[in-house]
Amino acid sequence: MKVTVVGAGAVGATCADNIARKELCSELVLLDIKEGISEGKSLDLFQTSSLLGFDTRITGSTNDYAKTANSDVVVITSGIPRKPGMTREELIGTNANIVKGVTENILKHSPNAIIIVISNPMDTMTYLALKSSGLPKNRIIGMGGILDSARFKCYLSLATGASTNDIHGVVIGGHGDTTMIPLTRLATINGLPVSHKLDDAALQKVAADTMVGGATLTGLLGTSAWYAPGAAGAALVEAIVRDEKKVMPCCVYLDGEYGQKDICLGVPVVIGKNGWEEIVDYKLNESEQAAFAKSADAVRSMNAVLGTMSM
Ligand code: 2OP
Repeated sequence: MKVTVVGAGAVGATCADNIARKELCSELVLLDIKEGISEGKSLDLFQTSSLLGFDTRITGSTNDYAKTANSDVVVITSGIPRKPGMTREELIGTNANIVKGVTENILKHSPNAIIIVISNPMDTMTYLALKSSGLPKNRIIGMGGILDSARFKCYLSLATGASTNDIHGVVIGGHGDTTMIPLTRLATINGLPVSHKLDDAALQKVAADTMVGGATLTGLLGTSAWYAPGAAGAALVEAIVRDEKKVMPCCVYLDGEYGQKDICLGVPVVIGKNGWEEIVDYKLNESEQAAFAKSADAVRSMNAVLGTMSM
């Protein structure tokens, strides 16, 4: 099994670190455009192998896509991260060209790869990767919902005192501060609805904290987060390479499901060796369905910006 992570910034390197520690592949390539950075980070990571006891071989590449040849899974983290006060959507001007170019280069050398998109604005970058590559829809997966759901579980744990591992919670919709939808109605602590532990106001606060989860960290760190985004990317790689058939909220192409067409948006999907294999219908209630439609409108207008760009 061979995995490539494109972009050796904090998110890409953390994702690679998690992939190596879990031995998700025998060969791992870290690629970056900046001279020496991927070679340096790969060597540093590989030097942890005898300390941590993993056998994954890690190599770096400064923009030489030949080294990524025959990858089974490719994670795209390239592009600029947001700064405090910025929305993910403001990154489109820079990141769209980068993501399009990376996707083309990857597919020249790994035509059968499953592609995971982490770059922001993630929903639009996933749509762009799908449309520009012409790949079958099941092979392009945006990561956002897994990260947003992990943040949702974190805030539910902080509010209830329950273990994050006992909490089941899913965030669907877009990966934006105003477009994501934490499904509080369906969240449980090992089957017990969280509404048995938290009143409406507390649940609304958890949802609000989740939605600005990334922005909160950007404010604290001065740049966007990396531990949870990197781990979320690796969790998605794991579900693919181990053919886990896990249900994960991911950004995928919708063709009528959840009432939406011609858009990539976060919904629960079964993840396995073929990429995303099935969309799971959570039977949203009226207000959740309305929030999903609103989220789709916002992402659709961001997608329309792609048409105005020279690419
Ligand atoms: C975040 O929410 C990087 O979009 C990512 O932290």
